[in-house]
Amino acid sequence: MSLLIKNGEIITADTRYIADIYCEGETITRIDHNISPPAGTEVIDATGKFVFPGFIDPHVHIYLPFMGTFSKDTYETGSKAALVGGTTTLIEMCCPAKSDDALAAFELWMSQAAGKSACDFTFHMGVTRFDDQTEAQLREIVKRGISSFKIFLAYKGAFGVDDTELYRTLKLARELGVIVTAHCENETLVSERCKELLAVGKTDPGQHHESRPPAVEAEGVHHLMTFAELTGAATYIVHLSCKEALDQAIAARQRGVRVGVETLIQYLTLDKTYAERPDFEGAKYVMSPPLREARNQRVLWDGLRDGLIQTVATDHAPFDFQKQKPMGKDDFTKIPNGIPSLEERINLLYTYGVKTGKIDLHTFVNVASTQVAKLFDLFPRKGAIQPGADADLVVFDPDYRGNISAKTQSMNVDYSAFEGWKLEGRTRDVTVRGQLAVRDGKFVGTLGRGQFLQRKPSHF
Ligand code: URP
Ligand code: ZN
Ligand code: ZN
Repeated sequence: MSLLIKNGEIITADTRYIADIYCEGETITRIDHNISPPAGTEVIDATGKFVFPGFIDPHVHIYLPFMGTFSKDTYETGSKAALVGGTTTLIEMCCPAKSDDALAAFELWMSQAAGKSACDFTFHMGVTRFDDQTEAQLREIVKRGISSFKIFLAYKGAFGVDDTELYRTLKLARELGVIVTAHCENETLVSERCKELLAVGKTDPGQHHESRPPAVEAEGVHHLMTFAELTGAATYIVHLSCKEALDQAIAARQRGVRVGVETLIQYLTLDKTYAERPDFEGAKYVMSPPLREARNQRVLWDGLRDGLIQTVATDHAPFDFQKQKPMGKDDFTKIPNGIPSLEERINLLYTYGVKTGKIDLHTFVNVASTQVAKLFDLFPRKGAIQPGADADLVVFDPDYRGNISAKTQSMNVDYSAFEGWKLEGRTRDVTVRGQLAVRDGKFVGTLGRGQFLQRKPSHF
């Protein structure tokens, strides 16, 4: 089967030109002008459109048992939403409970995706306990194609690890060349502040950010950086939300610590006043780390532009507003944490980043695709438009005008955090390994066709 994307403006992390892209089977085989395709080739006219490499979301939750409930998407709904939004590869956090066996958890998460996903996928392996048995199983999981771990310095008593576990995980990662992704918030500070707020009757969603101010996140980053410095492990801070935390990461980088930084589309576009909305509506915007004061947005956009921040993710964690967020109606600490955004990351990043001049088109591609592929051992199979790369391509219409609404979204959740927001540009067509998965904004892909992406560690 062959596919020709004709006359689009190809934009990669470092090039920009108009050409045709010819794909045979699952791969890009030729990029040239005026390619005449053999009979039977599917042709997509991309005149006046951008063509980007398929976008990669480095931080999503599809299957997530969390805070007494489960996140709403499955790989059927989640991969569909990802593709409609231009994301062709998902990196999901595999998050075992502390008492779970790591290998069994890895197999459970794999069973949720394999044979169900319409887009390609891989996992960061969550390390929520570290002992001799876990260590042996982590070595086995790396042999099976995983090259990144995930640790939590937050969520005391649930996913969080102690300092001995943190040290031993980083030592193992250093030995194996695995990069360690980390949720950085000081869990003791969070739990003590939560108790204090509740004790004086401060129970509403707007208290969530009071329980974990910027200093709590900055301390988490500083803590991780100290451990990374002493072990030499490669690290990656997930969902970084504020200047104070970024300053700690930059300071560590300047003294030689190996650290990548991820921010989220939510932190770039929303601020803490959303979580303070009355009548419990703020619960739609409760996530951790929390939404911050608006002044941080400029710092994050500039950080992307200047290469201080490497990636933009979603941390997609969808919980229904009507049935799940009210678990914390009288106690903000019980509101399931997460703001769904898997479907909208790329369109929002384009509209509110590129169109407003905060980042250029190459930075846009780099932070949402190429740099992710490089950090997580997927490049140049993913994140590139060149012969030999997977034919994961996004035809993007810069002239589209529309609005976001929960009524039209593919994500399986009953609200949109961006209801009514305008879009100036959107993903029109998407291919996954040479097969059309989205045509004119509608899913036309194949559930179950998504592949598990085997990765080899490179961070030695
Ligand atoms: O609030 C969030 N971030 N929910 C998902 C779990 C996590 O910490 O990544
Ligand atoms: Zn987290
Ligand atoms: Zn997460």
